[in-house]
Amino acid sequence: MTGAGVVDLRSDTVTRPSPGMRRAMADAEVGDDVLGKDPTVDLLERRVAGLLGKDAALFFPSGTQANQTALLLHTRPGTEAICEAESHVFHYEYADAAWLSGVQLHPVRSEGGELRASDVARAVRPGDRHHPSTTLVCVENTHNMHGGSVVPLAAMQAISELATERSLPVHLDGARLWNASVASGTSLADFAACADTVMISLSKGLGCPVGSLLAGPADLISHAWTVRKRLGGGMRQVGILAGAGLWALDNNVERLAEDHERARWLAREADALDGLRADPPDTNIVMIRVEKEGLDEAAVADGLEARGVLVLSAGPGRLRAVTHLDVDDHGVERCVEALREAVA
Ligand SMILES: Cc1ncc(COP(=O)(O)O)c(C=O)c1O
Repeated sequence: MTGAGVVDLRSDTVTRPSPGMRRAMADAEVGDDVLGKDPTVDLLERRVAGLLGKDAALFFPSGTQANQTALLLHTRPGTEAICEAESHVFHYEYADAAWLSGVQLHPVRSEGGELRASDVARAVRPGDRHHPSTTLVCVENTHNMHGGSVVPLAAMQAISELATERSLPVHLDGARLWNASVASGTSLADFAACADTVMISLSKGLGCPVGSLLAGPADLISHAWTVRKRLGGGMRQVGILAGAGLWALDNNVERLAEDHERARWLAREADALDGLRADPPDTNIVMIRVEKEGLDEAAVADGLEARGVLVLSAGPGRLRAVTHLDVDDHGVERCVEALREAVA
């Protein structure tokens, strides 16, 4: 069930391009981005590289392809990349690290998505004859499955210092780094300075139909172009999509604070209902725990769907509801009312 009248909280990827964004797409100047240059893509890549304080950025069709390109760039087959145990790169990218890079992921548990440098240090292999070499550390910020939690700058800096000590590169999966920045007041560039490469998405809270960028040093990003082409990610008159991205940067970043406020409101209301628990989220992802005897998350999700509200299961006993620019105050009220009825 999707469409008009439905409150869709499954993800912040479900947004539809607004009329202003569609006009920007229609008006975008385009070229052939594989044969030569597409001027709008060029503008977008330069702007995002500037925001992240990196030399260069490259536009990708998806965050997964950009993350996997980073893995291909930083690692070698038969080595290991450290990542957080609930991270997207570990759970939701089809074991691509193994499939494409020949790399084993080494998951490290954390409290709330905030990898501790001491835990990462323990996971780095000793460099002897008996273990694979560690070639990369991946960090996710905000952390999706930990309820859109912001990994604070100090924690990112501690990982970065450790990685520098051990001569390891850091890749930041910043699909929702915009949210982390707006929620914490830390600049994108300060977060990005803790990593060699950064993936950042336009297709989530920013409301674009497609697109993520990978930013980093000029030589790596130049190499990333070849990897993207090899992965089938070369796109032609893609200024149409970059135009949406530029429009989103002008219009949809600061407003993320509204999504965060609505998420906190939804969590408060859910937590007040008998049988449901929800911690206040840092950003736009609300994790609702179902703790009522005889009721599971699937039954609650079905009950919500019957009332025109969509959420996703986030594992046993847990539902995920994500606020975004197509959910207004009325949408939150409808979700709260549907939750009240579904658990009654
Ligand atoms: C944290 C995180 N990283 C990466 C991705 C992958 O992005 P895409 O769906 O564009 O491949 C997602 C998608 O939801 C995500 O939440």
